Amino acid sequence: MANGRYNLIPNKDFKIRTIIKSLETSPIRKIANTAIGKKDIIPLYFGETDIATPSFISQAMKDALDAGHTFYSANQGVPELVNIISKYSSSLHKKNIPPSRIMVTSAGMNALMMASEAIINPKDKVICITPVWPNFMRCIEIMGGEVIEIPLIYSDSDNTWQLNIAEINKHIKNVKAIYINSPNNPTGWMMDSQEQMAILELCRKNKIWIISDEVYERIVYDRNVAPSFLDISDENDLLLVVNSFSKSWAMTGWRLGWIILPENLLHIFEKLNEFNVASPSSPAQYAGITAITDGEDFIKTMINKLDDSRKLTINYLNNFSQVILPFPKAAFYAYFKVKNITDSEKFCFKTLTDTGVGLAPGTSFGKGGNSWIRICYAKSPDLLNQAFEKLKPALT
Ligand SMILES: Cc1ncc(COP(=O)(O)O)c(C=O)c1O
Repeated sequence: MANGRYNLIPNKDFKIRTIIKSLETSPIRKIANTAIGKKDIIPLYFGETDIATPSFISQAMKDALDAGHTFYSANQGVPELVNIISKYSSSLHKKNIPPSRIMVTSAGMNALMMASEAIINPKDKVICITPVWPNFMRCIEIMGGEVIEIPLIYSDSDNTWQLNIAEINKHIKNVKAIYINSPNNPTGWMMDSQEQMAILELCRKNKIWIISDEVYERIVYDRNVAPSFLDISDENDLLLVVNSFSKSWAMTGWRLGWIILPENLLHIFEKLNEFNVASPSSPAQYAGITAITDGEDFIKTMINKLDDSRKLTINYLNNFSQVILPFPKAAFYAYFKVKNITDSEKFCFKTLTDTGVGLAPGTSFGKGGNSWIRICYAKSPDLLNQAFEKLKPALT
């Protein structure tokens, strides 16, 4: 039972690349694998809302199928979608981002993987700002790169996270790229423009790539869109910005996203799309046009719901005596420290068994997560109330 699900031949040498053999199952997945199929579980471990894709987007996919959009698309993506992403991004970031800087991808994950394929040679050192979604680091490792984690610093005086610019400075000369995700999964941290400018200037000076994962740019509560590297950069910067339909339009299962790249690199990324997936699903791309064109009201309604869930979550967690919760500014996660634990994975397994609430261990997101837990609060207030009542004894 090599993966716990099927009877595989033990110890057979399939001559798989060493790095692939050594990829670890994420602690989140271990918790989920234990929970899935069990009765009365409250799953707060995965990063998605419980809101289904709105029907006007699903209808657009059905219409696309009926209209015969069942063939491969151009590697760059369906031209109407590329154009609409160009208009959308240009208007959000108040500058011209032409279609020639955009390629449609099979969601954010595929964009991150292709970014890594494009720039990382074996043994390249790469800075990752952590805590971060684990797949970030795995893309780098799959390409043979070496991750240098630079954790955000938790400042208890203002109860928030800060970039460790001094530490970034120390390593910047030896690295190929810096991977950064803001708004951040798991912390809910959101970079401000000054921090972005500091990183951009350092990277410009040292000719370092910035891979900026901005898939949560619309999951913000005090503005319309998060600060973006696109706001302050120009088209020749070594900057790749990853985005996705998954979070903003509740389309996680659709696998649709995009990457914004320097003007001269489109042909390289088109080749990568060709050799990875040829092109993302054509009918999904047509639905993407409708999502962007008609989806603003949906985003507003979803953000209002998420904000209610966020307030409820903050209220509960701040009242639990064992919990320290840095203020989650954006995205839909609460990442909190539990004072009396030193093994977050063990704590999550025990909590799952004792209460049925599925949490994500902090160790999933980089070093230093032993006392930390993430929950995804993008759930109904009713479900969250139930979960927190069950968690109360373990957290007070
Ligand atoms: C930080 C971050 N980036 C990228 C993704 C990828 O999302 P998708 O591949 O669904 O676009 C996720 C998903 O949870 C994420 O949290």
